[in-house]
Amino acid sequence: MENVVNFEQLFGGIYRNKTILLTGHTGFKGSWLAYWLTKMGAKVYGYALDNNELHHLQLLNNTLEHSEIGDIRDLKHLTDYFQKVQPEIVFHLAAQALVRPSYTHPVDTFSTNVIGTANVLEACRLTNSVRAIVNVTSDKCYDNREWIWGYRETDPMGGYDPYSASKGAAELVASSYRNSFFNLKEYGKKHKVLLASARAGNVIGGGDWGIDRLIPDMVKATAQNETVQIRNPKATRPWQHVLEPLSGYLTLGWKLLNNQIEYADGWNFGPEIKSNVTVGEVLEESQKYWKDIKFNIQTNPDEHHEAHLLMLDCSKANKIMKWKGVWEFEKTIEKTVNWYKIYYQNKQINTEQDLNDYVKDAAQAQLIWTQQI
Ligand SMILES: NC(=O)c1ccc[n+]([C@@H]2O[C@H](COP(=O)([O-])OP(=O)(O)OC[C@H]3O[C@@H](n4cnc5c(N)ncnc54)[C@H](O)[C@@H]3O)[C@@H](O)[C@H]2O)c1
Repeated sequence: MENVVNFEQLFGGIYRNKTILLTGHTGFKGSWLAYWLTKMGAKVYGYALDNNELHHLQLLNNTLEHSEIGDIRDLKHLTDYFQKVQPEIVFHLAAQALVRPSYTHPVDTFSTNVIGTANVLEACRLTNSVRAIVNVTSDKCYDNREWIWGYRETDPMGGYDPYSASKGAAELVASSYRNSFFNLKEYGKKHKVLLASARAGNVIGGGDWGIDRLIPDMVKATAQNETVQIRNPKATRPWQHVLEPLSGYLTLGWKLLNNQIEYADGWNFGPEIKSNVTVGEVLEESQKYWKDIKFNIQTNPDEHHEAHLLMLDCSKANKIMKWKGVWEFEKTIEKTVNWYKIYYQNKQINTEQDLNDYVKDAAQAQLIWTQQI
C-alpha cells in the first residue's frame, strides 16, 4: 500500500456504501468504530445512550448518517429504529462496560448486558435487511480460573462479579439465538443471518473518558496536576490499542457479509502474550511519554473481588482468520498517552493520525484486511 491510505479498499471493500447499525456509538470503542466505518464509505447509524459529558464522537464532529439516543432495554424503540434504518450489518457494542459499577448497580448491568443483548438480537430477527451481526462481549465472559493459560473459545462461560457474569450470560443469549433462529444448517433456506461473538480484553487509546478506568483516571488526574490513586497495581491485563479488536470485529463482519458460515461463532481478539502486563507496568511505561504522570498505590482490604489474571488464547483468530495485532505494548502506550497529551496541551484530536498510522503499519505487516483483492 502506498503512503496514502485508501480506506474504501480495506476489508475487501465490503463496507463501502453499506448500511450499518452500531449500538454504543457514543462510547469509547463505538466512537472509533463509527469513525473508521465512515472513513471506509459506510452509511453508519448509531443507537445508544448519551451518558458521557464529554465524548470522542462529538470531538470528531461525527459524520454519522444519524445518531439515535435510546436504551437497548426499550425493545419497541430499538425495533422501530432497526425497521427505519434497515441495516445490513449490526455491530452490538452498547453495554454497561465496567466491573466496579456492576457491584453498585447489578440489576442495571444484567438488564443492559443480558436483556439488552436479547433485545438487539430480537430487533435483528424482526428486521429483514439484517444479514450479519457482530456481538461484542468481553474476555471476562469466561469462567476465570486465575490460571496462567489463555482462555479458548471452547472454554466454559462464567463470571464472578455481575459484569463478568452478564457477559457470560450475553454469550449464552447469542448462542441460543444462533441455535434457535440463525441456525447454520438452515442458513440460506429459512433465514439469511450470520451471528458471531467477539471477545477482547482491556483496550486503551485516545478518546476514552469512561469512569473508573486506568488510562482515563490517569490522564484526567495528570491534566489537573494531581496524583492518580491505584488500587490494584499487580493485576495483569491483556492491554491492547482500541484499533486492534476493532480490526478483528471488522474482519469478522467482512467474512459474515461474504456468507462465510464458518465465521458465525465465538472469536478471541487479544494481544500477544508479552502485552499481558500489570497495571504498575502500564503506569511506568506511560510516564516515559508524559513525565507529569504521578501515581500512588492505595490498596483497600474491603475492595470488591476483581480478577487478577486473565489472558486470551487467540490461536483461532490467528490461524483461521489470519487476524493479528499490529502494535506492541510500548507503541500502544505511546499512542495512547500522546493522544491525551496532545488533547490536553493543544486541544487537538489525534484520532485520524492514529488510524492512518495503524492502517499503514498493518499494511506493512501484510495483514489480510489491508490487501487489495
Ligand atoms: N473498554 C474495554 O476495555 C472493554 C474490554 C472488553 C470488552 N468491552 C466491551 O466492548 C463494548 C464497548 O465498550 P466501551 O469500552 O466502548 O464502553 P463505553 O462504556 O465507553 O461505552 C458503552 C456504550 O454503551 C452505551 N450504553 C450503555 N448502556 C446502554 C443502554 N442501556 N442502552 C443503550 N446504550 C447503552 C453507552 O451510551 C455507550 O455508547 C462493551 O460491550 C464492553 O463490555 C470493553
